[in-house]
Amino acid sequence: MPLETTLLIVKPDGVQRGLVGRILTRFEEKGLQLVGMKMMTIPMALAERHYEAHKERKFYPGLVRFMTSSPVLVFAVRGVDAISISRKMMGATFGPTAEAGTIRGDFGSSRSYNLIHGSDSPEAAARELSLFFAAGEVQTWSQASMAWVYDASEEL
Ligand code: RTP
Ligand code: MG
Repeated sequence: MPLETTLLIVKPDGVQRGLVGRILTRFEEKGLQLVGMKMMTIPMALAERHYEAHKERKFYPGLVRFMTSSPVLVFAVRGVDAISISRKMMGATFGPTAEAGTIRGDFGSSRSYNLIHGSDSPEAAARELSLFFAAGEVQTWSQASMAWVYDASEEL
């Protein structure tokens, strides 16, 4: 199982609704390690690059407008299989159809205001981490609790 680092963003609706703490807590509780964090208002050019795969989609202009409309909380977590675990914790794209127990399923009722972004592949994670964090901003640190998150004889 690969040790991965992934890029997550609490979107403007999550920050405006005061859900930053509750969303971050879920990742800490899962046992993923926080390795980077910053609050920012995403510049238009960065939002356009971040979502450039969707450039031709009808929702792209509204998506870029939404993502730049108000501050976000950008963060990075690390763990074994962190990318797919984070995507599962986020839930399906649209709040109304996302499974209960997921972030979007528990907090979201909209198709476009869906609270959180997460990288969807190792390639996307590498690209997005370098878009939002400068060299050295993502931390490498030893967290004591990890000895009780993973069975080192089998998983690491
Ligand atoms: P994200 O990239 O933000 O983590 O979301 P995702 O992978 O679950 O969904 P994706 O297909 O990559 O879409 C990116 C974001 O665009 C908005 N969207 N709106 N109205 C629509 O049909 C529609 N489709 C997508 C959502 O904010 C979605 O998260
Ligand atoms: Mg996506």
